[in-house]
Amino acid sequence: PAPRTVLLTGAAGGVGTLMRGLLPAYGYTLRLLDVRPIEDEPDAVVADLSDRDALREAVRGVDAIIHLAGISLEAPFDKILRSNIEGTYHLYEAAREEGVGRVVFASSNHAVGFTPRPRGDDPLIPVDTPRRPDTFYGLSKCFGEDLAQLYWDKHGLETVSVRIGSCFPEPTSVRMLSVWMSPADGARLFHAALTAPDVGHTVVYGSSANTRLWWDLSSARALGYEPRDDSEPYAQKLIAEQGDLDEDTVSHGYLGGHFVNDPPIWPY
Ligand code: NAI
Repeated sequence: PAPRTVLLTGAAGGVGTLMRGLLPAYGYTLRLLDVRPIEDEPDAVVADLSDRDALREAVRGVDAIIHLAGISLEAPFDKILRSNIEGTYHLYEAAREEGVGRVVFASSNHAVGFTPRPRGDDPLIPVDTPRRPDTFYGLSKCFGEDLAQLYWDKHGLETVSVRIGSCFPEPTSVRMLSVWMSPADGARLFHAALTAPDVGHTVVYGSSANTRLWWDLSSARALGYEPRDDSEPYAQKLIAEQGDLDEDTVSHGYLGGHFVNDPPIWPY
């Protein structure tokens, strides 16, 4: 049966707030969790990912989990370790103990951020390109993908790992023209990831059908995802304001954008 009740972790955050608005139209009943309270959502579970008892209670009885909670930018390693690495482990343990069948894991393009971006007629970056994290943050997403694979192979717990590009209402940089995932396409992709049969552990890129797309969406499309948006209408204005991507700038040369240079390792 199609999943109906879904735990949304990180529900107070940017993507969580967008998905709280969009996913109920697909028929889901959402249970919300975040370490921060959410205004106007008194039933949301306020808990840290280190709280195993709270996680077990939160996952009990749900059909699936969309796991967005965690640190979403580069940070000191010990913080990444606690929220993204140990936190994701605790959530998977709770899911396994309570028999939840599927997780949709918010991975990131920063798991492969040190991959040179395609230029000119270069082929799109495939989903099985070697992982090249650009930050401790990206490294934690590599861990999450491997954890997902382990829990599928060992415990039969399914995951779709979505390497999200940038999910914001509008693209706000020239790089985002290539990696943007509109909120509506994000909801389409999460819905496909929740409902596609027999996903095992599947890794997909999460973007709209952008004219300037850098990576291959075929594994996402194979789940039934049909993106409808394209960042191109924003291109002229953004390029006029910011200039086009500079081939010779480190921050413009890799999939991960400025994350490759955070903290700065090159003198620009
Ligand atoms: P965000 O930073 O706005 O939201 C993350 C939420 O997780 C916050 O509300 C925070 O309170 C919560 N959180 C952090 N640590 C926690 C912990 N230990 N226990 C419980 N809750 C905790 O991030 P955003 O932009 O909404 O991203 C959501 C997810 O998607 C993140 O995992 C991020 O890494 C991933 N992602 C997002 C992208 C984007 O374009 N926004 C791009 C690529 C990946």
